[in-house]
Amino acid sequence: MDTTAPHFGPPEGERELAAAEDIIAQAFALTPEESRAWRQKVEANSAHLRLLREGGSVAATIILIPMGQWFNGRRVPMVGIGGVGVAPARRGQGSATRLMQAALRELRSQGAPLASLYPSTQPLYRRVGFEQAGSRFEIRVQLSGLDFHERTLSLRPVGESDMPAIHEVYRRHAQRQQGWIDRTVYTWNRVTHPKGEIAYGYLVEGGSGIEGYVYLTRRAQPRSIQQELNLTDLVALTPAAGRRLLSFMGDHRSVATEVMWRGGPADPLLFLLREQTYQVKHLFYWMLRVLDVPAALQARGYPTGLSGALHLEVDDDLFPENRNRFVLEVENGEAEVRPGGDGDVKLHVRALAPLYSGFLSPAALQLAGALAADEDSLRTATALFSGPPPAMPDMY
Ligand SMILES: CC(C)(COP(=O)(O)OP(=O)(O)OC[C@H]1O[C@@H](n2cnc3c(N)ncnc32)[C@H](O)[C@@H]1OP(=O)(O)O)[C@@H](O)C(=O)NCCC(=O)NCCS
Repeated sequence: MDTTAPHFGPPEGERELAAAEDIIAQAFALTPEESRAWRQKVEANSAHLRLLREGGSVAATIILIPMGQWFNGRRVPMVGIGGVGVAPARRGQGSATRLMQAALRELRSQGAPLASLYPSTQPLYRRVGFEQAGSRFEIRVQLSGLDFHERTLSLRPVGESDMPAIHEVYRRHAQRQQGWIDRTVYTWNRVTHPKGEIAYGYLVEGGSGIEGYVYLTRRAQPRSIQQELNLTDLVALTPAAGRRLLSFMGDHRSVATEVMWRGGPADPLLFLLREQTYQVKHLFYWMLRVLDVPAALQARGYPTGLSGALHLEVDDDLFPENRNRFVLEVENGEAEVRPGGDGDVKLHVRALAPLYSGFLSPAALQLAGALAADEDSLRTATALFSGPPPAMPDMY
């Protein structure tokens, strides 16, 4: 092997694993033990560690986590990216850029249409075709404002045998949301075992089965009887389940003043509250990369009852296959994509990400100088990509 040329791939041998653990520990301020445990968990949970070798040693790390993401009711295969780290002495010399390019090439060659990530810095990821495409909010509800006393539906701890049903309840809920992920073992592990802790699961049952559930951790506040109540997951399929779960949260009011969970900008559970005794704080805009333009456009759902054709002209610095004209034809919520057409809507693949997810309207993208189109095409694009604001409560 040429030890001077950059080389990207899975770790080979104990020395490379140790080097990767050191990079991850220093990038994310973990102890060596935490870094090792995290690396082992990655592999045990079907995610993939990849390394960039430069000058004969390990320069950078990245984790690839296969999952899916829901857009207008359809699951689009998506690979979540985490663990991007460059050895401190090698930073500022383009290693992360080369790492991202190599990782995206691997994902595209394997047929993944989308990749997404939570950025600690945007220019790095924009340079390789990512753009803001959805949000993640923190929701804090004051328990004193939760005057719910709903006990009709039964509530009990989640048992091991309930897990398939819990997964199904999550899936039924997530597929109706825009941008929520289809979880795999890696992301479920973050719900049930967040940062090595164990979250307590409780489910709500009605006549026709499980209607909702919650996972929570409690952390004692220093020198106080008070606890921090943190929900790692919260799903209510029915208003009755929502009221039962809000009552359950209120049952913690002797030792906690508020409860916190993550979600989108307008959580329907908050609509049940009498007053605005909550705060919704923006945490992050996640970024999306359209790796395969026709495959991604074809895989997502579109509003039913609409039909229309959009002629796109896409630019992409990394993948010449995407640098093309495409015709997107939609009928009855389904799309067909073929190369060619008039190229009426001109945009870089980066701008396609917020259009695709519905994060920014075509008019907003035009205002930002990221899209050029005639009025008719703008109207068609607005209708085809309309939907609720995309959000992703999960972090990975
Ligand atoms: C962020 C990080 C991965 C960048 O690695 P790198 O090899 O230095 O990056 P590159 O040299 O390829 O730089 C690419 C671009 O990223 C941005 N960037 C690089 N380092 C950055 C930093 N420390 N802070 C903010 N932006 C940074 C710059 O815009 C840079 O382009 P420019 O130099 O032309 O302005 C590296 O500093 C690191 O490991 N940091 C700690 C962990 C981390 O933040 N990981 C990312 C998690 S999403």
